[in-house]
Amino acid sequence: MEEGRWVPVAEASSFRQGGGSIGMAVECDGCLLAVFRVGDDYFALDDICSHEYSRLSEGEILDGEVYCPKHGSRFDLRTGEVRGLPATRPVSTYAVKEEDGKVWVLWDR
Ligand code: FES
Repeated sequence: MEEGRWVPVAEASSFRQGGGSIGMAVECDGCLLAVFRVGDDYFALDDICSHEYSRLSEGEILDGEVYCPKHGSRFDLRTGEVRGLPATRPVSTYAVKEEDGKVWVLWDR
Protein backbone atom coordinates (compact mmCIF):
# COMPACT_ATOMS: atom_id res chain seq x y z
CA MET A 1 0.00 0.00 0.00
CA GLU A 2 1.20 3.49 -0.85
CA GLU A 3 2.22 5.71 2.03
CA GLY A 4 1.45 9.41 1.78
CA ARG A 5 -0.84 11.44 -0.42
CA TRP A 6 -0.68 12.51 -4.05
CA VAL A 7 -0.04 16.26 -4.39
CA PRO A 8 -0.41 18.14 -7.72
CA VAL A 9 2.83 20.06 -8.37
CA ALA A 10 2.68 21.20 -12.01
CA GLU A 11 0.69 21.28 -15.20
CA ALA A 12 1.68 18.36 -17.41
CA SER A 13 1.71 20.70 -20.42
CA SER A 14 4.74 22.51 -18.98
CA PHE A 15 6.74 19.29 -19.44
CA ARG A 16 5.78 18.98 -23.08
CA GLN A 17 7.79 21.92 -24.38
CA GLY A 18 10.98 21.24 -26.25
CA GLY A 19 10.72 17.52 -26.82
CA GLY A 20 13.87 16.29 -25.08
CA SER A 21 14.38 15.72 -21.39
CA ILE A 22 13.15 18.51 -19.19
CA GLY A 23 13.64 19.38 -15.53
CA MET A 24 11.68 21.78 -13.41
CA ALA A 25 11.72 22.99 -9.82
CA VAL A 26 8.39 22.63 -8.05
CA GLU A 27 7.18 23.26 -4.54
CA CYS A 28 5.47 20.59 -2.51
CA ASP A 29 4.30 21.44 1.00
CA GLY A 30 6.98 24.12 1.21
CA CYS A 31 9.80 21.80 0.06
CA LEU A 32 11.66 22.22 -3.21
CA LEU A 33 11.63 19.23 -5.52
CA ALA A 34 13.16 18.66 -8.93
CA VAL A 35 10.81 16.92 -11.34
CA PHE A 36 12.18 15.54 -14.60
CA ARG A 37 10.46 14.11 -17.64
CA VAL A 38 12.60 11.79 -19.74
CA GLY A 39 10.63 10.38 -22.63
CA ASP A 40 7.36 9.20 -21.10
CA ASP A 41 8.84 8.76 -17.62
CA TYR A 42 8.76 11.19 -14.73
CA PHE A 43 11.19 11.34 -11.81
CA ALA A 44 11.14 13.46 -8.66
CA LEU A 45 14.07 14.13 -6.33
CA ASP A 46 15.00 16.70 -3.72
CA ASP A 47 15.96 19.80 -5.67
CA ILE A 48 18.83 20.79 -3.38
CA CYS A 49 22.06 18.85 -3.91
CA SER A 50 23.30 16.85 -0.91
CA HIS A 51 26.84 18.26 -1.33
CA GLU A 52 26.38 22.03 -1.15
CA TYR A 53 23.64 24.41 -2.20
CA SER A 54 22.78 23.88 -5.82
CA ARG A 55 19.58 23.17 -7.73
CA LEU A 56 19.46 19.74 -9.37
CA SER A 57 16.47 20.90 -11.45
CA GLU A 58 18.99 23.03 -13.39
CA GLY A 59 21.30 20.09 -14.06
CA GLU A 60 21.91 18.15 -17.25
CA ILE A 61 20.25 14.77 -17.65
CA LEU A 62 22.12 11.91 -19.27
CA ASP A 63 21.74 8.12 -19.14
CA GLY A 64 19.32 8.09 -16.22
CA GLU A 65 21.38 10.50 -14.13
CA VAL A 66 21.21 14.20 -13.31
CA TYR A 67 24.46 16.15 -13.12
CA CYS A 68 24.66 18.76 -10.39
CA PRO A 69 25.36 22.10 -12.13
CA LYS A 70 27.78 23.28 -9.41
CA HIS A 71 30.41 20.52 -9.05
CA GLY A 72 29.15 17.78 -11.33
CA SER A 73 28.06 15.07 -8.91
CA ARG A 74 25.75 12.61 -10.59
CA PHE A 75 22.56 11.25 -9.01
CA ASP A 76 20.50 8.29 -10.21
CA LEU A 77 17.09 9.62 -11.24
CA ARG A 78 15.30 6.50 -9.98
CA THR A 79 17.00 5.99 -6.62
CA GLY A 80 18.73 9.28 -5.75
CA GLU A 81 21.97 7.34 -5.18
CA VAL A 82 25.25 9.16 -5.82
CA ARG A 83 26.98 8.00 -9.01
CA GLY A 84 29.82 10.51 -9.02
CA LEU A 85 31.72 12.57 -6.43
CA PRO A 86 32.07 15.01 -4.73
CA ALA A 87 28.62 14.37 -3.19
CA THR A 88 28.56 11.30 -0.94
CA ARG A 89 24.98 11.31 0.37
CA PRO A 90 21.94 10.36 -1.73
CA VAL A 91 18.95 12.62 -2.25
CA SER A 92 15.39 11.49 -1.58
CA THR A 93 13.21 10.38 -4.45
CA TYR A 94 9.43 10.37 -4.78
CA ALA A 95 6.86 8.56 -6.89
CA VAL A 96 5.42 10.69 -9.70
CA LYS A 97 2.46 10.29 -12.01
CA GLU A 98 0.65 12.26 -14.70
CA GLU A 99 -3.12 12.33 -14.35
CA ASP A 100 -5.91 14.74 -15.33
CA GLY A 101 -3.43 17.04 -17.05
CA LYS A 102 -1.31 17.47 -13.94
CA VAL A 103 1.90 16.02 -12.54
CA TRP A 104 1.47 14.55 -9.07
CA VAL A 105 4.05 13.61 -6.44
CA LEU A 106 3.44 11.02 -3.74
CA TRP A 107 4.30 13.05 -0.67
CA ASP A 108 5.08 11.12 2.49
CA ARG A 109 6.00 13.86 4.93
S1 FES B 1 26.76 21.36 -4.93
FE1 FES B 1 26.20 19.57 -6.05
S2 FES B 1 28.10 18.54 -6.34
FE2 FES B 1 28.62 20.29 -5.16
